[in-house]
Amino acid sequence: MKFKSIKGTRDILPGEVETWQRAEAAIHRVMRGYNYREIRTPIFEQTALFARSIGELTDIVSKEMYTFKDRSDESLTLKPEETASVLRAYIQHGLGEQAPLTKVYYIGPMFRQERPQAGRLRQFHQFGAEAVGSSSPHLDVEMTLIALDIYRNMGIQQFSLAINSVGCEKCRPAYKQKLVQELRKTHDRLSPESQARVRHNPLRVLDSKDERDQQLTKHAPLMKDHLCTECGEHFVQVQALLKATRTPFKIDGRLVRGLDYYTKTAFEITSPALGSQDALAGGGRYDLLVEELGGKPTPGVGFAAGMERLLIALEKSGSVSDKSVNLILFIAAADEPARQWAFVKAHELRMKGLTVEIDYLDRSLKSQMREANRQQARYVIVVGENELASGSAKLKNMQTGEETVLDLGAIEKAVKV
Ligand code: HAM
Repeated sequence: MKFKSIKGTRDILPGEVETWQRAEAAIHRVMRGYNYREIRTPIFEQTALFARSIGELTDIVSKEMYTFKDRSDESLTLKPEETASVLRAYIQHGLGEQAPLTKVYYIGPMFRQERPQAGRLRQFHQFGAEAVGSSSPHLDVEMTLIALDIYRNMGIQQFSLAINSVGCEKCRPAYKQKLVQELRKTHDRLSPESQARVRHNPLRVLDSKDERDQQLTKHAPLMKDHLCTECGEHFVQVQALLKATRTPFKIDGRLVRGLDYYTKTAFEITSPALGSQDALAGGGRYDLLVEELGGKPTPGVGFAAGMERLLIALEKSGSVSDKSVNLILFIAAADEPARQWAFVKAHELRMKGLTVEIDYLDRSLKSQMREANRQQARYVIVVGENELASGSAKLKNMQTGEETVLDLGAIEKAVKV
C-alpha cells in the first residue's frame, strides 16, 4: 500500500521551507515592532467554543470543521481559526487582569474542510494578531498596518484594502429588518444559498459571489448608511487614521465576512495575484465576543492572514528568495582515519555556529567534491593521511577557486565571514 498526504494538505519541502522561514522572520520582526507578544494555543479545542464564537450557521461551523469525538465522548474540533482560541486563553488565564490591553500574535496551522483549489487548503496556515481591551479605532487601523507592513517587508507591493462597518447590537437589528424587507421583494429569484441566508444571516446575501444575486441586491440598503452615532463616529475615525498613515483603502459597503462575531469595523486585504481566492487577510472588531465566551465585557479587534496566500503572492511578485542553505564548509575525507577526524572537527565547528557538511556515503574524493559543489559550499577542505600527519591542509574557496594552505587548528577563523 502506498501512503499519500490527505487531500487539501501539503508538505512543505526543503527548498520551499526557506521562504516560509523568511516570511516567519518578517512576521516576528514586524509584530515585535508593534509590541505584540506571541501566543501558542492547542491545535484542538472544545467544539462549542467555535460554534459559539464563529456562529452556528456560518459555513465554517455548519460544514467545514473537522469535528470528532475522542475516547471519552467529548466533541473536539481542529481549530478553523485562532481568534476563539486566543480569547478562550485570555479568559482562562485572566490576561485582562494582568494588563489593561493584551496584544498577541500567532502563526500556525488551521483546518477547514473546504473544496481544495489554488490558495485554498484543508490544512492551511495563518498568521494574525489580536488586541483585547480597547475600543480605540487606532487599533482597528493598527491591524491593517501590521498586515500591510508584513507584505511590504516581504516585497509584495500589489494589494488593496477594503473596509466596512457592520454596526453593533444597537444599530444592526433595525437595519437587518430593513434589509430583509428589501430582499423579500426579489426573494424567489435569489440563489438558493442566498434565500437561506435571508432567514439566517441576511447581511451575507450582500457579499454573495453569484452575479444574479449581485444584480438583484444592487439597490439594497447598506449597513454603513444606517449606523448609530457611536458606530458612525468610529467608522469616520478609522478612515481618518488610514488617511493620516497614507494607507490607500476603499469602502466596500457589501463587505461582511464569513464569521459572525464582528462589530463595527470589518476589513479585507486582497491581491490581484491570487485569482479567485484573492483574500490575503481579513479581520475586524469583535466587541461582544469576550463576553459571549464567558468573560467580562471587553472590546477587541484582530486580523488573520493566509501564509500560503502570502507565498503565492510573493512568487507572483518574483521576490522568492535564494533557496540555498548557506553551507560554509564541506570537509572531504580521503580515508577512514580522515573520516573520523572530519566527523569530530565538523562537530566542533557546528558547536561554534558554522554550517558544516561531511560525507556519510563513503564516496570517493572526486564525488565528495561534486557534492560540495552541488550544495554550493563556500569552502572545501580535503583531508587524508598526509594532512593529518602534517597538521595542515588545502582550503579551497569555491567561489574564487583560490586555494590556501591552512593549519588544521585554524579552520574556524579562515572560513568565518
Ligand atoms: P478568515 O477570513 O476566515 O478570518 O481567514 C483569514 C485568512 O486566512 C483569509 O483571508 C485567507 O488568507 C486565509 N484562509 C482562510 N481559509 C483558508 C483556506 N481554506 N486555505 C488557505 N487560506 C485560507 C479569520 O480566520 C479570522 N479569525 C480573522 C480575525 C482575527 N478576525 C479578527 N481577528
